[in-house]
Amino acid sequence: MKTVDVCLSPDLLHLHKVSNKIVVVVDILRATSCMTTGIAHGVNSIIPFADMEECMLMSAKGFLTAGERNGKKIDGFDLGNSPYDYMDEAVKGQDVAVTTTNGTRAIEKSKGAVEVVIGAFLNISAVAEYLRAKNMDVLILCAGWKGKVNLEDSLFAGALSEALKPDFEHACDAPMLAETSYNFMKHDIVARVQSSSHAKRLNRLNVHKDIEFCLKHDEYDVVPVLQEGKIVALNNQQNRNQ
Ligand code: MLT
Repeated sequence: MKTVDVCLSPDLLHLHKVSNKIVVVVDILRATSCMTTGIAHGVNSIIPFADMEECMLMSAKGFLTAGERNGKKIDGFDLGNSPYDYMDEAVKGQDVAVTTTNGTRAIEKSKGAVEVVIGAFLNISAVAEYLRAKNMDVLILCAGWKGKVNLEDSLFAGALSEALKPDFEHACDAPMLAETSYNFMKHDIVARVQSSSHAKRLNRLNVHKDIEFCLKHDEYDVVPVLQEGKIVALNNQQNRNQ
């Protein structure tokens, strides 16, 4: 039987073998929620950069630049890291270069995987359906916060692991831990996540509406995947059923 595992922080990734797995990267607040929103709203591609200067240089190549550090939009960049930035009609059809505090770093670290999938509550059922159709073990990688575990990514890991039942078995205890947390908190997930450290940080920066939006389930039916360094939509049925 296929297995599902959870890595609660990119700093623990060295404990996992990814070369034979699909890695689902998650950064609920807000990197992978933004990527999912962008792809759903017709962004052509999104290139993730761990490094801010490298990202900035993409502007000269015709890319929109997007991102944040510590939750704040980067000076001189076209977009911040709000899902609402990606709903703008002007972003449709564009290529975006993005750098964020944790999310793009987690994607960078996953590059040795067979495939890297972008997960969020916004597309959780589409991602689960895709993973069920593939004959491969799965690792859910939480972006966390600067190496530390965070609540919202861990809850997503639990929700996705739960959604993969009964087709996957747990590779270790982390999926069980994450599922138990999700099941305990899912009925008042917005209130629970509001008390998380990053939600508090965002609230201090007057970013309020993103939190609730990023916790919506199944807003979009897209599966963004990393292909040749770019995040693009994998949304045709043929590919999804491979
Ligand atoms: C990150 O990568 O850490 C985030 O997405 C931070 C944020 O946008 O608030």
